[in-house]
Amino acid sequence: MLENLKPQPLDKIIAMIGQFKADPRTEKLDLGVGVYKDVNGKTPIMRAVKAAEARLLESQQSKSYVGLLGDLTYNAAMADLILGDSVDSARIASAQTPGGTGAIHQLFEMIKMASPDAKVWISNPSWPNHEAILKHLKMPVGKYRYFDDATCDVDFDGMKADISSAAPGDIILLHGCCHNPTGANITVAQWAELADLLLAKNLIPMIDIAYQGFGEGLADDVKGLRIMAAKSPQMLIAASCSKNFGLYRDRVGVAIAIAEDAAQQDLTKATLATINRLNYSFAPDHGAAVVSIIMNDAELRADWQSELEEMRLGMLDLRVELADALRRATNSDRFDFVAQHRGMFSRLGLTVGQVETLRAQNGIYIVSDSRINIAGLPKNGMDDLAAAIAAVL
Ligand code: LMR
Repeated sequence: MLENLKPQPLDKIIAMIGQFKADPRTEKLDLGVGVYKDVNGKTPIMRAVKAAEARLLESQQSKSYVGLLGDLTYNAAMADLILGDSVDSARIASAQTPGGTGAIHQLFEMIKMASPDAKVWISNPSWPNHEAILKHLKMPVGKYRYFDDATCDVDFDGMKADISSAAPGDIILLHGCCHNPTGANITVAQWAELADLLLAKNLIPMIDIAYQGFGEGLADDVKGLRIMAAKSPQMLIAASCSKNFGLYRDRVGVAIAIAEDAAQQDLTKATLATINRLNYSFAPDHGAAVVSIIMNDAELRADWQSELEEMRLGMLDLRVELADALRRATNSDRFDFVAQHRGMFSRLGLTVGQVETLRAQNGIYIVSDSRINIAGLPKNGMDDLAAAIAAVL
Protein backbone atom coordinates (compact mmCIF):
# COMPACT_ATOMS: atom_id res chain seq x y z
CA MET A 1 0.00 0.00 0.00
CA LEU A 2 2.63 2.52 1.02
CA GLU A 3 4.48 1.99 -2.25
CA ASN A 4 1.58 3.70 -4.01
CA LEU A 5 2.22 6.99 -2.28
CA LYS A 6 3.34 9.83 -4.48
CA PRO A 7 5.81 12.50 -3.43
CA GLN A 8 3.84 15.55 -2.31
CA PRO A 9 4.76 19.09 -3.25
CA LEU A 10 6.40 20.77 -0.27
CA ASP A 11 4.89 24.04 0.95
CA LYS A 12 7.48 26.63 -0.10
CA ILE A 13 7.43 28.37 3.29
CA ILE A 14 7.83 25.19 5.31
CA ALA A 15 10.52 23.87 2.94
CA MET A 16 12.55 26.97 3.62
CA ILE A 17 12.69 26.29 7.40
CA GLY A 18 14.61 23.07 6.64
CA GLN A 19 16.85 24.70 4.04
CA PHE A 20 17.82 27.48 6.41
CA LYS A 21 18.62 25.06 9.25
CA ALA A 22 20.72 22.91 6.93
CA ASP A 23 22.80 25.87 5.71
CA PRO A 24 26.17 25.59 7.52
CA ARG A 25 27.07 29.27 7.07
CA THR A 26 27.12 31.28 10.28
CA GLU A 27 26.40 34.53 8.47
CA LYS A 28 22.89 33.78 7.25
CA LEU A 29 19.60 35.60 7.50
CA ASP A 30 16.14 34.04 7.80
CA LEU A 31 13.44 36.24 6.26
CA GLY A 32 11.22 33.24 5.50
CA VAL A 33 8.53 31.78 7.73
CA GLY A 34 6.21 34.25 9.45
CA VAL A 35 7.43 33.96 13.00
CA TYR A 36 8.08 37.09 15.08
CA LYS A 37 11.62 37.68 16.25
CA ASP A 38 12.97 40.37 18.55
CA VAL A 39 16.14 42.39 17.89
CA ASN A 40 18.21 39.47 19.20
CA GLY A 41 16.62 37.09 16.73
CA LYS A 42 14.66 35.29 19.45
CA THR A 43 10.94 34.47 19.39
CA PRO A 44 9.95 35.43 22.92
CA ILE A 45 7.23 33.95 25.09
CA MET A 46 5.10 37.00 25.86
CA ARG A 47 5.08 38.15 29.49
CA ALA A 48 1.33 37.73 29.92
CA VAL A 49 1.54 34.23 28.43
CA LYS A 50 4.22 33.20 30.95
CA ALA A 51 2.15 34.62 33.81
CA ALA A 52 -1.06 32.94 32.62
CA GLU A 53 0.76 29.62 32.18
CA ALA A 54 2.00 29.83 35.78
CA ARG A 55 -1.57 30.45 36.96
CA LEU A 56 -2.87 27.59 34.86
CA LEU A 57 -0.28 25.21 36.26
CA GLU A 58 -1.33 26.19 39.78
CA SER A 59 -5.08 26.08 39.29
CA GLN A 60 -5.73 23.30 36.81
CA GLN A 61 -7.37 20.32 38.51
CA SER A 62 -7.96 17.95 35.64
CA LYS A 63 -6.80 17.00 32.19
CA SER A 64 -10.13 15.50 31.21
CA TYR A 65 -11.71 16.45 27.87
CA VAL A 66 -13.15 19.94 27.64
CA GLY A 67 -15.73 19.67 24.85
CA LEU A 68 -15.97 19.35 21.09
CA LEU A 69 -16.26 23.11 20.65
CA GLY A 70 -13.32 23.67 22.98
CA ASP A 71 -13.09 26.20 25.80
CA LEU A 72 -16.21 28.34 25.46
CA THR A 73 -14.69 31.20 27.47
CA TYR A 74 -11.82 31.27 24.96
CA ASN A 75 -14.21 31.20 21.99
CA ALA A 76 -16.21 34.09 23.46
CA ALA A 77 -13.07 36.11 24.19
CA MET A 78 -11.86 35.65 20.62
CA ALA A 79 -15.22 36.58 19.12
CA ASP A 80 -15.16 39.71 21.27
CA LEU A 81 -11.56 40.58 20.31
CA ILE A 82 -12.33 40.25 16.61
CA LEU A 83 -15.94 41.35 16.30
CA GLY A 84 -16.49 43.65 19.28
CA ASP A 85 -20.17 44.57 19.30
CA SER A 86 -20.54 44.63 15.51
CA VAL A 87 -22.74 41.52 15.60
CA ASP A 88 -25.34 40.20 18.07
CA SER A 89 -23.64 37.37 19.97
CA ALA A 90 -26.79 35.23 19.48
CA ARG A 91 -25.76 34.96 15.83
CA ILE A 92 -22.20 33.75 16.50
CA ALA A 93 -21.24 30.06 16.37
CA SER A 94 -17.64 29.26 17.19
CA ALA A 95 -15.33 26.31 17.69
CA GLN A 96 -11.82 26.20 19.06
CA THR A 97 -9.38 24.74 16.52
CA PRO A 98 -5.75 23.67 16.40
CA GLY A 99 -4.28 26.93 15.08
CA GLY A 100 -5.54 29.19 12.34
CA THR A 101 -4.86 26.48 9.77
CA GLY A 102 -7.24 24.20 11.69
CA ALA A 103 -9.89 26.92 11.59
CA ILE A 104 -9.47 27.40 7.84
CA HIS A 105 -9.67 23.66 7.27
CA GLN A 106 -12.79 23.20 9.40
CA LEU A 107 -14.57 26.12 7.73
CA PHE A 108 -13.69 24.85 4.26
CA GLU A 109 -15.15 21.48 5.23
CA MET A 110 -18.30 23.17 6.45
CA ILE A 111 -18.60 25.08 3.16
CA LYS A 112 -18.25 21.78 1.31
CA MET A 113 -20.97 20.15 3.42
CA ALA A 114 -23.38 23.07 2.97
CA SER A 115 -22.60 24.10 -0.59
CA PRO A 116 -20.55 21.48 -2.45
CA ASP A 117 -20.48 23.43 -5.71
CA ALA A 118 -19.58 26.80 -4.21
CA LYS A 119 -16.25 28.15 -5.37
CA VAL A 120 -13.90 29.63 -2.79
CA TRP A 121 -12.23 32.72 -4.24
CA ILE A 122 -8.79 33.57 -2.90
CA SER A 123 -6.61 36.59 -3.59
CA ASN A 124 -3.89 36.31 -6.21
CA PRO A 125 -1.46 35.90 -4.53
CA SER A 126 -2.52 34.43 -1.20
CA TRP A 127 -1.03 32.36 1.61
CA PRO A 128 -0.05 29.18 -0.33
CA ASN A 129 -1.85 26.87 2.11
CA HIS A 130 -5.26 28.35 1.20
CA GLU A 131 -5.14 26.86 -2.28
CA ALA A 132 -3.35 23.71 -1.10
CA ILE A 133 -6.07 22.87 1.46
CA LEU A 134 -8.87 23.64 -1.02
CA LYS A 135 -7.28 21.34 -3.58
CA HIS A 136 -6.75 18.66 -0.95
CA LEU A 137 -10.46 18.86 -0.12
CA LYS A 138 -11.24 18.79 -3.86
CA MET A 139 -13.06 22.08 -3.65
CA PRO A 140 -13.39 24.51 -6.57
CA VAL A 141 -11.00 27.48 -6.31
CA GLY A 142 -11.30 30.90 -7.93
CA LYS A 143 -8.71 33.68 -7.85
CA TYR A 144 -9.33 37.39 -7.81
CA ARG A 145 -6.73 40.00 -8.75
CA TYR A 146 -5.21 41.61 -5.69
CA PHE A 147 -1.68 42.92 -6.04
CA ASP A 148 -0.53 45.41 -8.63
CA ASP A 149 3.13 44.61 -9.33
CA ALA A 150 3.72 48.06 -10.80
CA THR A 151 2.49 50.06 -7.79
CA CYS A 152 3.08 47.34 -5.14
CA ASP A 153 -0.38 48.27 -3.87
CA VAL A 154 -3.81 46.66 -4.06
CA ASP A 155 -5.40 46.51 -7.52
CA PHE A 156 -8.82 47.34 -6.10
CA ASP A 157 -10.57 47.77 -9.45
CA GLY A 158 -9.27 44.40 -10.63
CA MET A 159 -10.27 42.84 -7.33
CA LYS A 160 -13.83 44.17 -7.59
CA ALA A 161 -14.16 43.15 -11.23
CA ASP A 162 -13.08 39.56 -10.52
CA ILE A 163 -15.22 39.26 -7.40
CA SER A 164 -18.19 40.56 -9.39
CA SER A 165 -17.83 37.62 -11.74
CA ALA A 166 -18.33 35.08 -8.92
CA ALA A 167 -21.59 33.11 -8.88
CA PRO A 168 -24.18 33.79 -6.17
CA GLY A 169 -23.40 31.67 -3.11
CA ASP A 170 -19.64 31.60 -3.78
CA ILE A 171 -17.26 32.33 -0.91
CA ILE A 172 -14.85 35.28 -1.03
CA LEU A 173 -11.83 34.68 1.19
CA LEU A 174 -10.27 37.94 2.40
CA HIS A 175 -7.30 38.57 4.67
CA GLY A 176 -8.62 40.43 7.73
CA CYS A 177 -5.49 42.60 7.91
CA CYS A 178 -1.77 42.37 7.15
CA HIS A 179 -2.14 40.63 3.80
CA ASN A 180 0.09 37.59 3.46
CA PRO A 181 2.27 37.57 1.34
CA THR A 182 2.10 41.09 -0.07
CA GLY A 183 1.77 43.47 2.91
CA ALA A 184 -0.61 45.61 0.81
CA ASN A 185 -4.02 46.08 2.41
CA ILE A 186 -7.41 47.43 1.46
CA THR A 187 -8.58 50.59 3.22
CA VAL A 188 -11.54 50.79 5.61
CA ALA A 189 -13.55 52.58 2.90
CA GLN A 190 -12.72 49.76 0.48
CA TRP A 191 -13.90 47.19 3.04
CA ALA A 192 -17.23 49.00 3.19
CA GLU A 193 -17.46 49.05 -0.60
CA LEU A 194 -16.64 45.34 -0.78
CA ALA A 195 -19.22 44.55 1.90
CA ASP A 196 -21.89 46.20 -0.28
CA LEU A 197 -20.64 44.41 -3.38
CA LEU A 198 -20.75 41.01 -1.69
CA LEU A 199 -24.22 41.72 -0.34
CA ALA A 200 -25.51 42.81 -3.76
CA LYS A 201 -24.05 39.74 -5.46
CA ASN A 202 -25.11 37.30 -2.73
CA LEU A 203 -21.50 36.28 -2.01
CA ILE A 204 -20.37 35.06 1.40
CA PRO A 205 -17.29 36.60 3.03
CA MET A 206 -14.76 34.40 4.76
CA ILE A 207 -12.04 36.26 6.64
CA ASP A 208 -8.67 34.78 7.55
CA ILE A 209 -7.24 36.89 10.36
CA ALA A 210 -3.88 35.73 11.65
CA TYR A 211 -2.11 39.02 12.38
CA GLN A 212 -4.54 41.19 14.37
CA GLY A 213 -2.42 43.74 16.22
CA PHE A 214 0.51 43.58 13.79
CA GLY A 215 -0.74 46.18 11.31
CA GLU A 216 -2.37 49.41 12.49
CA GLY A 217 -3.15 48.16 16.00
CA LEU A 218 -5.55 45.71 17.67
CA ALA A 219 -8.72 47.74 17.12
CA ASP A 220 -7.82 49.40 13.82
CA ASP A 221 -6.86 46.07 12.24
CA VAL A 222 -10.47 44.85 12.49
CA LYS A 223 -12.29 48.06 11.52
CA GLY A 224 -12.96 46.83 7.99
CA LEU A 225 -13.81 43.30 9.13
CA ARG A 226 -16.36 44.69 11.61
CA ILE A 227 -18.02 46.83 8.94
CA MET A 228 -18.37 43.75 6.80
CA ALA A 229 -19.66 41.68 9.73
CA ALA A 230 -22.30 44.29 10.52
CA LYS A 231 -23.52 44.31 6.91
CA SER A 232 -23.33 40.60 6.05
CA PRO A 233 -26.16 38.16 6.75
CA GLN A 234 -23.61 35.34 6.95
CA MET A 235 -19.84 35.41 7.37
CA LEU A 236 -17.03 33.01 8.31
CA ILE A 237 -13.87 33.90 10.23
CA ALA A 238 -10.72 31.83 10.79
CA ALA A 239 -8.49 33.36 13.45
CA SER A 240 -5.09 32.46 14.87
CA CYS A 241 -3.31 33.27 18.13
CA SER A 242 0.04 32.08 16.78
CA LYS A 243 1.36 35.55 16.07
CA ASN A 244 -0.40 38.04 18.34
CA PHE A 245 -0.04 35.80 21.42
CA GLY A 246 3.17 34.13 20.17
CA LEU A 247 1.59 30.73 20.77
CA TYR A 248 2.75 29.15 17.52
CA ARG A 249 3.50 25.61 18.68
CA ASP A 250 0.57 25.40 21.06
CA ARG A 251 -1.83 25.56 18.09
CA VAL A 252 -4.48 28.05 19.12
CA GLY A 253 -7.16 29.08 16.67
CA VAL A 254 -10.89 29.59 16.38
CA ALA A 255 -13.46 29.06 13.63
CA ILE A 256 -16.33 31.53 13.81
CA ALA A 257 -19.51 31.59 11.75
CA ILE A 258 -21.99 34.45 11.85
CA ALA A 259 -25.43 33.05 11.20
CA GLU A 260 -28.64 34.86 10.25
CA ASP A 261 -30.62 33.84 13.32
CA ALA A 262 -30.52 31.73 16.45
CA ALA A 263 -31.80 28.56 14.75
CA GLN A 264 -29.09 28.78 12.10
CA GLN A 265 -26.54 29.49 14.82
CA ASP A 266 -27.51 26.26 16.65
CA LEU A 267 -27.21 24.20 13.50
CA THR A 268 -23.84 25.76 12.65
CA LYS A 269 -22.48 25.11 16.14
CA ALA A 270 -23.55 21.47 15.99
CA THR A 271 -21.95 21.14 12.57
CA LEU A 272 -18.66 22.64 13.77
CA ALA A 273 -18.69 20.22 16.72
CA THR A 274 -19.23 17.31 14.33
CA ILE A 275 -16.41 18.41 12.02
CA ASN A 276 -14.07 18.67 15.01
CA ARG A 277 -15.11 15.17 16.13
CA LEU A 278 -14.51 13.75 12.67
CA ASN A 279 -11.06 15.28 12.32
CA TYR A 280 -9.44 15.22 15.76
CA SER A 281 -12.21 15.19 18.37
CA PHE A 282 -10.85 17.81 20.75
CA ALA A 283 -8.64 20.82 20.05
CA PRO A 284 -5.57 21.13 22.32
CA ASP A 285 -6.54 23.01 25.48
CA HIS A 286 -3.39 24.56 26.91
CA GLY A 287 -2.90 27.59 24.66
CA ALA A 288 -6.60 28.41 24.49
CA ALA A 289 -6.83 28.27 28.29
CA VAL A 290 -3.88 30.68 28.47
CA VAL A 291 -5.56 33.12 26.07
CA SER A 292 -8.79 32.91 28.05
CA ILE A 293 -6.96 33.72 31.30
CA ILE A 294 -5.26 36.73 29.69
CA MET A 295 -8.39 38.08 28.07
CA ASN A 296 -10.41 37.80 31.26
CA ASP A 297 -7.88 39.48 33.53
CA ALA A 298 -7.59 43.26 33.18
CA GLU A 299 -3.94 43.41 34.24
CA LEU A 300 -2.70 40.56 32.06
CA ARG A 301 -4.73 41.83 29.14
CA ALA A 302 -3.24 45.31 29.43
CA ASP A 303 0.28 43.88 29.63
CA TRP A 304 -0.34 41.64 26.61
CA GLN A 305 -1.63 44.60 24.63
CA SER A 306 1.34 46.77 25.49
CA GLU A 307 3.85 44.07 24.56
CA LEU A 308 1.99 43.42 21.30
CA GLU A 309 2.06 47.14 20.57
CA GLU A 310 5.83 47.23 21.21
CA MET A 311 6.24 44.39 18.71
CA ARG A 312 4.11 46.20 16.14
CA LEU A 313 5.97 49.49 16.52
CA GLY A 314 9.31 47.68 16.30
CA MET A 315 8.27 46.14 12.97
CA LEU A 316 7.14 49.54 11.71
CA ASP A 317 10.57 50.97 12.56
CA LEU A 318 12.23 48.11 10.69
CA ARG A 319 10.05 48.84 7.66
CA VAL A 320 11.16 52.47 7.61
CA GLU A 321 14.81 51.50 8.17
CA LEU A 322 14.79 49.01 5.30
CA ALA A 323 13.04 51.44 2.95
CA ASP A 324 15.63 54.12 3.83
CA ALA A 325 18.54 51.71 3.37
CA LEU A 326 17.18 50.55 0.02
CA ARG A 327 16.73 54.18 -1.05
CA ARG A 328 20.41 54.79 -0.33
CA ALA A 329 21.59 51.52 -1.90
CA THR A 330 19.55 51.80 -5.09
CA ASN A 331 19.53 55.56 -5.33
CA SER A 332 15.81 55.31 -6.09
CA ASP A 333 12.39 55.26 -4.44
CA ARG A 334 11.61 51.85 -5.93
CA PHE A 335 11.24 50.21 -2.51
CA ASP A 336 9.50 53.03 -0.64
CA PHE A 337 6.35 50.88 -0.52
CA VAL A 338 7.98 48.75 2.19
CA ALA A 339 7.39 51.60 4.65
CA GLN A 340 3.76 51.92 3.56
CA HIS A 341 2.88 48.23 3.78
CA ARG A 342 1.57 46.81 7.04
CA GLY A 343 1.87 43.52 8.89
CA MET A 344 4.58 40.93 9.03
CA PHE A 345 5.37 40.76 5.32
CA SER A 346 6.20 42.72 2.21
CA ARG A 347 6.69 41.39 -1.26
CA LEU A 348 9.80 43.00 -2.71
CA GLY A 349 9.08 42.31 -6.38
CA LEU A 350 12.29 40.35 -7.04
CA THR A 351 12.44 37.51 -9.56
CA VAL A 352 12.85 33.89 -8.47
CA GLY A 353 16.38 34.04 -9.89
CA GLN A 354 17.25 37.11 -7.81
CA VAL A 355 15.86 35.44 -4.68
CA GLU A 356 17.97 32.35 -5.41
CA THR A 357 21.10 34.43 -5.91
CA LEU A 358 20.58 36.12 -2.55
CA ARG A 359 20.31 32.71 -0.92
CA ALA A 360 23.28 31.18 -2.71
CA GLN A 361 25.65 34.15 -2.48
CA ASN A 362 24.63 35.87 0.73
CA GLY A 363 22.77 33.27 2.80
CA ILE A 364 19.71 35.54 2.74
CA TYR A 365 16.56 33.42 2.82
CA ILE A 366 13.50 35.00 1.20
CA VAL A 367 10.40 33.09 0.02
CA SER A 368 10.60 32.48 -3.76
CA ASP A 369 7.82 35.00 -4.47
CA SER A 370 10.15 37.57 -2.79
CA ARG A 371 8.11 37.83 0.42
CA ILE A 372 10.19 38.94 3.39
CA ASN A 373 9.40 38.57 7.08
CA ILE A 374 9.80 42.11 8.42
CA ALA A 375 10.42 40.87 11.99
CA GLY A 376 13.50 39.00 10.75
CA LEU A 377 15.20 42.14 9.39
CA PRO A 378 18.60 42.82 10.94
CA LYS A 379 18.42 46.07 12.91
CA ASN A 380 22.19 46.43 12.77
CA GLY A 381 22.75 45.08 9.29
CA MET A 382 20.22 46.94 7.21
CA ASP A 383 22.76 48.58 4.89
CA ASP A 384 24.44 45.24 4.17
CA LEU A 385 21.09 43.68 3.37
CA ALA A 386 20.10 46.60 1.15
CA ALA A 387 23.45 46.42 -0.65
CA ALA A 388 22.97 42.69 -1.28
CA ILE A 389 19.47 43.30 -2.66
CA ALA A 390 20.68 46.19 -4.81
CA ALA A 391 23.46 43.98 -6.19
CA VAL A 392 21.04 41.41 -7.62
CA LEU A 393 18.74 43.92 -9.31
C1 LMR B 1 3.70 32.17 7.13
O1 LMR B 1 2.96 32.53 6.20
O2 LMR B 1 4.93 32.17 7.04
C2 LMR B 1 3.10 31.70 8.41
O3 LMR B 1 1.72 31.86 8.38
C3 LMR B 1 3.52 30.35 8.79
C4 LMR B 1 2.89 29.29 7.93
O4 LMR B 1 2.29 28.37 8.50
O5 LMR B 1 2.98 29.37 6.71
